[in-house]
Amino acid sequence: MKVAIVGLGFVGLSLAVVLSAKGYDVFGIDVDVKKCNSIRKGISPFFEPGLEKMLKNGLKKKLKISDDFSVIKNVDMIFVTVGTPQSKSGAIDLSIMKNAIKTIGKIIRDSKKNQIIFIKSTVTPGSMEKIILPILENTSKRKAGKDFGLISNPEFLQESSAIKDTEYPHAVVLGGYQTKFMNKAKKFFTKLHSNTPIIITNHQTAEMIKYANNSFLATKISFINQLSNICQKIPGANVDDVAKTIGLDPRIGKLFLNAGPGYGGSCLPKDMRALINFSSSVGIEPSLLNAVEKTNEKQLENIIFKISKTLGKLKNKHITILGTSFKPDTDDIRDSISIEVIKKLLKKEAKVKIFDPKAMENTKNVFNDKIEYAKSLSDSLQKSECVVIMVHWKEFEKLNNSLISKMKKKFIIDCRRVLINKELDVKYYAIGIGEKL
Ligand code: UDX
Repeated sequence: MKVAIVGLGFVGLSLAVVLSAKGYDVFGIDVDVKKCNSIRKGISPFFEPGLEKMLKNGLKKKLKISDDFSVIKNVDMIFVTVGTPQSKSGAIDLSIMKNAIKTIGKIIRDSKKNQIIFIKSTVTPGSMEKIILPILENTSKRKAGKDFGLISNPEFLQESSAIKDTEYPHAVVLGGYQTKFMNKAKKFFTKLHSNTPIIITNHQTAEMIKYANNSFLATKISFINQLSNICQKIPGANVDDVAKTIGLDPRIGKLFLNAGPGYGGSCLPKDMRALINFSSSVGIEPSLLNAVEKTNEKQLENIIFKISKTLGKLKNKHITILGTSFKPDTDDIRDSISIEVIKKLLKKEAKVKIFDPKAMENTKNVFNDKIEYAKSLSDSLQKSECVVIMVHWKEFEKLNNSLISKMKKKFIIDCRRVLINKELDVKYYAIGIGEKL
C-alpha cells in the first residue's frame, strides 16, 4: 500500500511517521522546499514529543519526503493535510487547499490507479461538495466515486500528544458517498485502529463534526474560566476543586476544565471564528458561540487588569512572562494568549523579559529586540517586579523561595495555579482562587 501525505504540518508529518512505522510506503509532500530539506535530514520543523525519533526511524526505512507532487500518480491513498488559515472576515481561507487539489487533480488525470483522496484539513460544511469535489473532477477529468474516492476525514489530534492521538484516535470519521472507496477506507482504518469507533456519514456532517468538537472544547474552557472569575470573588473558593468534582459527573467529564488565561493555539480560536462566521452566513445567530469567544477575550483583559492594579503605571516596570507557547510541550506560539499579553504590556511601555523551555526562538521571531530573553528560569527573575505564569511547563514548578529572592518586588500572577500548594514568600495571585479576606 502506497500512501501520499500532502502538507507536512503537525497533522501531516505525524500521520507520515505513524503510517511509516506501521510499514506503509509513505511519501510526505510539501510545497516548501526548505521544509522538505530539513525533514529529509530528520529535523522536525516544530517541536513535538516523540516525533523526531520516529521521523529518523522512518527515513531509514520507506518514508520519502519530497516537494515533487508527481509521486502521487502511483499511490493508493492521498491524505490532504494542508493548512486552512483564517481570512480577514473570520471565514477560512481555502486558497492553499485549492492549489493543492488542483495539482493533485492534474496528476491523477493520467494515473492508472483509482486513488482515494482523504481531506483531513478542517473545512467548513459544504466545502467538499461545493468546492473541493468540483475542482478535483474538473482538473482530473475523472469522476469522484467512480474513478477516484473522495472522503472527508477530519482529525482530532492535539499538539503535544500528536503521535499518540494519531495512533489512537478516539474516533475515525469518514464522510462521503457509500461507494467501493468507502468500503476500502473502512477496511484500512479498521486495520489501522482496531477498537476505534468508525463513524460513516456524509461530507457535510463530517465537516460539521470537526467544528462541533472544537467549539464544544472551547465552550468548556470558557465556562470554567467564567466560573473561575466568580470563584475569585468568593474568599477561599477554589476553581480546581469545583472542576474536579463536576468532572466526576459522567454527563460533564473531567477534561478541558482547567481554568487559565483563555484558549489559544492554531485551532480552537480559528475554528470558533469560522463557525461563528458560518453560522451567521446560514442565518443562525451564534449567541452561545459569541459568548464563548467574548469570555475568552475577557480573560486576557483580566490578566492585564490584575498586573496594572498591583504595579500601578506599567511604564518601565520589569515584568517576567513565563511561558510563551500556547500550551506546554510545544514550541508553537500561534494565537498564544501569552503573545497577546506581551503585546499589551509593550503598548503600556513595560519592560518585558520572557522565558519558555521550547518557544524562545519562535518568540524572538515576533518581538526581536523589543523584549528581553532570559537564559534560564533563574535569569528570568532578576530585577523582576512581577512574574506572570502563563503556561504550565513542568519546569516552572521548580520556583521556590531561593529563586524568588532574585525578584525586585515579590509578586506572582499564576494563571495556571502551578505554585498553588507551595509556601512562598511572595504576594501571590492565582486565577480561580478567591483571595482570602
Ligand atoms: C485542539 C483540539 O483539542 C484538537 O482536538 C484539534 O484537533 C486541534 O485543536 P490543540 O490546538 O493542540 O488541539 O490544543 P488544545 O490542547 O485543545 O488546547 C487549546 C488551548 O486551550 C490551549 O491554549 C490550552 O492551554 C487551552 N486549554 C485547554 C485550557 O485553557 N484549559 C483546558 O482545560 C484545556
